[in-house]
Amino acid sequence: MFGSGNRDEEYFDDPNTFNPYRDTSKAITFGAGPLFFAGAWATKSLIVNVALPMIFETLPDMKLNGEVKFIGWAFRGPLSVPVI
Ligand code: HEM
Repeated sequence: MFGSGNRDEEYFDDPNTFNPYRDTSKAITFGAGPLFFAGAWATKSLIVNVALPMIFETLPDMKLNGEVKFIGWAFRGPLSVPVI
């Protein structure tokens, strides 16, 4: 599945360590080949240029305040993200 493929040690060094500088060109988050998600660039732009800047500008002192539980298989993500 996507999460497993994106942690394949043959393609990604130290895949379980958060590293925003890693080359992710081989990641399959948005599919691959003929099954590549057509909206990938619009979605990435919405997250990186709109949603995250709005959150960090509005809540500059936001910090995690509890455990983040992940759920899901194909589309995996946090159920809730408790913050203060
Ligand atoms: C980070 C967020 C997202 C991820 C990781 C993601 C990922 C994917 C993946 C892997 C596919 C399957 C491609 C395939 O197998 O054919 C897909 C298809 C699709 N997604 Fe997304 N998606 C995201 C956000 C969105 C959003 C926000 C929308 C709508 C506003 C959307 C609408 C669609 C549609 C309509 C398809 C089917 C058409 C196509 O493949 O281009 N997705 N997406």
